[in-house]
Amino acid sequence: MINEDRLWNRLLELGNIGKQPSGGITRLSFTKEERAAKEKVASYMKEAGLAVYEDAVGNLIGRKEGKEKDAPVVLVGSHIDSVYNGGMFDGPLGVLAAVEVLQTMNELGVETTHPIEVVAFTDEEGARFSYGMLGSRGMAGTLSEEELVHQDKHGVSIADAMKEAGLNPSEIAKAARRKGSVKAYVELHIEQGRVLEEANLPVGIVTGIAGLVWAKFTIEGKAEHAGATPMPIRRDPLVAAAQIIQVIEQEAKKTGTTVGTVGQMQVFPGGINVIPERVEFSLDLRDLDAAVRDNVLQSIIERAQQIGNERNVKVTVELLQEMPPVLCSELVQNAAKEACQKLGFDVFTLPSGASHDGVQLAGLCPIGMIFVRSKDGVSHSPEEWSSKEDCAAGANVLYHTVLCLATKE
Ligand code: GLV
Ligand code: MN
Ligand code: MN
Repeated sequence: MINEDRLWNRLLELGNIGKQPSGGITRLSFTKEERAAKEKVASYMKEAGLAVYEDAVGNLIGRKEGKEKDAPVVLVGSHIDSVYNGGMFDGPLGVLAAVEVLQTMNELGVETTHPIEVVAFTDEEGARFSYGMLGSRGMAGTLSEEELVHQDKHGVSIADAMKEAGLNPSEIAKAARRKGSVKAYVELHIEQGRVLEEANLPVGIVTGIAGLVWAKFTIEGKAEHAGATPMPIRRDPLVAAAQIIQVIEQEAKKTGTTVGTVGQMQVFPGGINVIPERVEFSLDLRDLDAAVRDNVLQSIIERAQQIGNERNVKVTVELLQEMPPVLCSELVQNAAKEACQKLGFDVFTLPSGASHDGVQLAGLCPIGMIFVRSKDGVSHSPEEWSSKEDCAAGANVLYHTVLCLATKE
């Protein structure tokens, strides 16, 4: 059994890094807060007896050797970057539980055939650059240097932020793992929904991860005097945007499965007495079925263009990032099922609506995830919470899942 108190205390300690006055956590990639968090986790990895290193995209890794040194490695981890004003479990639970699993194995003198590595992936959330999963994509070998042009709110590109953090953007290919060198990837994460809570269960096994599309809408109209311009002759892009956002809700609702969110909006020039000239807003659209999601996107774009024509404003849609839906492998699901049975937990399966690094690794190795019950299903918010007991239950299931994956051929 893992050490419940040690895991919990580390969650609380890591949760103090990047803490905002609101109580939420902001730890964006390549910032001093993220660096401090990586240093803290590196110190836990050392306490756990792991060999610690960082790869070319800044993924922080702690390694425990296997009896067969060259056998494919079992990867286990998550991320420690956060969204703006997020919670203390999304990401950290998976990383700290993985460290805890390996520390427990070392304390018990457990040796495995396969080596095991704990990974804290760089920039899973995509919060800083509206472009995410940089670490797992680097490891999968699918991140290219050309993509590092994406900029944060202050005009700093991913490449520049990497340089500031001491990384060389021209060397990201060195982070790529060879096909066949990774036996499996498994991640423990909070559910971020209400399914486990409603089923009254602490832990669930993930069957698949929904695919997402991120897009940027720009609506251009005409800036004019708010008092002197009669309503019928205005070309107001914000009113068009309001209509398009309603369309997003309608089109997503029609399917019963798709979810669509506008989480960012900027209005230019932003004066109280000026009709806006330009509006930019984001779209996050997800479904477990890529075809359903893509049809919704198509309908949204067509109706947005119609609204633009009717209101005489220009609508431009730029696709920022696409991630396919991914199924979790039988290998990892079965190992997690065995672990649940061994510990006396119900074997309960559910899909993930949130995205995770496993999506990016699915082309490299079999992947899988274990979920822990979230209080009220809340996440990406300071209210995010999972109990100490549920976190420990998840970490114990992770322990036996990793042991099974790292022992069996
Ligand atoms: C990551 O948390 C995401 O699903 O956006
Ligand atoms: Mn996460
Ligand atoms: Mn998240």
